[in-house]
Amino acid sequence: MPIVTFFPSGQTIQVEQGSLLFDAAVKAGLPVASSCNTENVCGRCNMQILKGLENLSFQSEQEVKLLQRDKNPTTDRISCMTRIVGDCTVTTRYW
Ligand code: FES
Repeated sequence: MPIVTFFPSGQTIQVEQGSLLFDAAVKAGLPVASSCNTENVCGRCNMQILKGLENLSFQSEQEVKLLQRDKNPTTDRISCMTRIVGDCTVTTRYW
């Protein structure tokens, strides 16, 4: 099962393959910004991927549009639209 590491705390959590990044952070007890309740609209749940970008699901056109709309780098990931397929290390701008 993939291991997600959260920076800067260094906290780790093991998740089922295919889990949403958003759900992994919540399961780890970390706050995740959201104003759309994971309906893929607000874009607030974006995260920065420090390691393991290749271990995440491909970006959809909708995800790229959300990142661009909010002027976030397209290397960020919208966590409620991103599935985990292998180990990764992530952070947000507010942790
Ligand atoms: S929680 Fe709104 S887009 Fe992810």
